[in-house]
Amino acid sequence: MPASEPENVNVSAADKPSEGKPKPERPEREVPLCIPDMGDEEIAAVAEVIRSGWLAHGPKNKEFESLFAEYHGVAHAVSLNSCASALFLALHASGIRGEVILPSFTFVASANAVVAAGGTPVFADVAPDTCNLDPEAVEAVLTERTEAIMPVHYAGHAAQMGALASIAAKRKLLLVEDSAEAIGATWNGKRTGGWGTGCFSFYPTKNLSTGEGGMLTTNDAALAEKVRAIAGHGVASSTWAREKKEKPWLRAATFAGYNFRMSNVLAAIGVVQMSKLERMNEARRVHAMRYNELLDRDAFELPAERPGCRHVYQMYTVKLRRGDRTKLLAELRGKGIGASVHFDPPVHAQPYYVEHYGSAWKLPVTERLAASLVTLPIYPGMRQDDVEYVAKAANAAAKSCV
Ligand SMILES: Cc1ncc(COP(=O)(O)O)c(C=O)c1O
Repeated sequence: MPASEPENVNVSAADKPSEGKPKPERPEREVPLCIPDMGDEEIAAVAEVIRSGWLAHGPKNKEFESLFAEYHGVAHAVSLNSCASALFLALHASGIRGEVILPSFTFVASANAVVAAGGTPVFADVAPDTCNLDPEAVEAVLTERTEAIMPVHYAGHAAQMGALASIAAKRKLLLVEDSAEAIGATWNGKRTGGWGTGCFSFYPTKNLSTGEGGMLTTNDAALAEKVRAIAGHGVASSTWAREKKEKPWLRAATFAGYNFRMSNVLAAIGVVQMSKLERMNEARRVHAMRYNELLDRDAFELPAERPGCRHVYQMYTVKLRRGDRTKLLAELRGKGIGASVHFDPPVHAQPYYVEHYGSAWKLPVTERLAASLVTLPIYPGMRQDDVEYVAKAANAAAKSCV
């Protein structure tokens, strides 16, 4: 779920204010789109940091970063305030100002980062099964101005990284992975975010959460240092590192930077979440398998998992084969089910992008997906009977919406 829809976290359609209208009757049951897996351990970790008095970027960030880097098999991880910041920094710190090829079938943050860095988004179509960037479509839009490729690992399934990485290598292009939705997913056994510059989100619906937060991963020490500096007002070493030096009051800005840092408080949550990540992803997979068993395949096309891939089901999305999707969503929401759509409209059809980049894009798969996809609730703590309730309601709604 993108950052612009906070009402979908932990809240069902029936809880939304109804602007003067009488509140509809509460459905017998509520299954929100997502409930983040947070508990006593996270509360204790936050309490400990608050007691320590070190609230800003600090030692917990170092701990979170090294756990994250180790898990992804990369040399460096930089904790940030969001994935949007990570995406922007990946491009900005590498001096990308030309064309960046990315899918339109993504949350708008992916393309916004390109625009913010001073680049030009070029949208390529996606594969119909995984909804991820199609390497052939990428080849078709390469130009002399192309400087980077930004695959997005949609809903927890890795993009075709083998083919995309080889296009990037052959054309000497920067490879920035938008792995906001795929912490722990693999392509041919290798985790997303480890192929190029990895960008991750810790928004509450993601595989791992710190409330708000992000991470950038890289094997390039110079890039990591530059990103760290730009994220910290352009000053080359963090406050914490400076405290250790002889003259902690000296601050040398080597860049005109920003403040994109993650706080020590949120990093403490991240450290706890890292220890639960595999369990949380496995729980998501169990729920997805149950959905796969229960949903009517005549009504829905179910999510694909390509051979050699590990899907981590940040979202469970199905394609409605026929019928009125709006009606289906309304019926599910009326039953207390936080069903939603990711993503409609796709980025190229968003007003800002139409105004600035025109509407001549040829993205037939993207448009078909945007019109037919439905996101069903999935989160680690979901109960078996919640999955059954949602599947039964979805099958019934698919019949009545035709
Ligand atoms: C594909 C994708 N990219 C980027 C983002 C932005 O992440 P954040 O909210 O951490 O900036 C999201 C979040 O929803 C996303 O789904």
